[in-house]
Amino acid sequence: MKVAAIAGSIREDSYNNMLLENIKERFNGKFDLDIIKIDKLPLFNQAEELDPPEIVKTFKNQIADYDAVLISTPEYNWSVPGVLKNSLDWLSRGERPMIGKPVMIVGASISLMGTIRAQMDLRRILSAPGLSARVLEPAKSEVLITQAHEKFDENGKLTDEATQDAVDRAVNNFHEMVSG
Ligand code: FNR
Repeated sequence: MKVAAIAGSIREDSYNNMLLENIKERFNGKFDLDIIKIDKLPLFNQAEELDPPEIVKTFKNQIADYDAVLISTPEYNWSVPGVLKNSLDWLSRGERPMIGKPVMIVGASISLMGTIRAQMDLRRILSAPGLSARVLEPAKSEVLITQAHEKFDENGKLTDEATQDAVDRAVNNFHEMVSG
């Protein structure tokens, strides 16, 4: 099963990227997971939506090739970061590879809110007609990492047991959804 993983943060020491790296390593064998970078995508321009820049075409073709998409989003000002929304806007116009695509949402934040508002917004965005993704329901995928700076060690390994249990449950539910 091939899964494209996207982090909504492009900073080097991103907890959301760490979370994806942890999932990639832990579920190696069950998922063939690749982290797809969105940091070089240009800003969305509607005038280019039918014939986008080469880097955007490559990104859209990449996403189309995967069985499923895993998104780890931070929360910026109570919503998803602009870089993540920008990538989704490209995916929503012209060729639309997200339609019907199984998606799981997870997220990590350093606050006590654990990206709940960003994840709710992301669900709404992914249900827009141009995206129409098949998002794993919250009851099966609640990974809302609070105080992320206390949950990962200096090597980026997830060390919090309760969080790991929640991640394991969610990822197994996602596997069931995609293979079922
Ligand atoms: C934040 N942060 C934040 N956290 C949160 O829980 N709710 C929020 O609304 C915001 N808003 C916000 C805005 C901006 C512009 C920044 C830069 C940060 C803090 C955020 O959770 C923290 O920086 C995370 O570590 C970002 O995720 P990565 O980069 O570690 O993946």
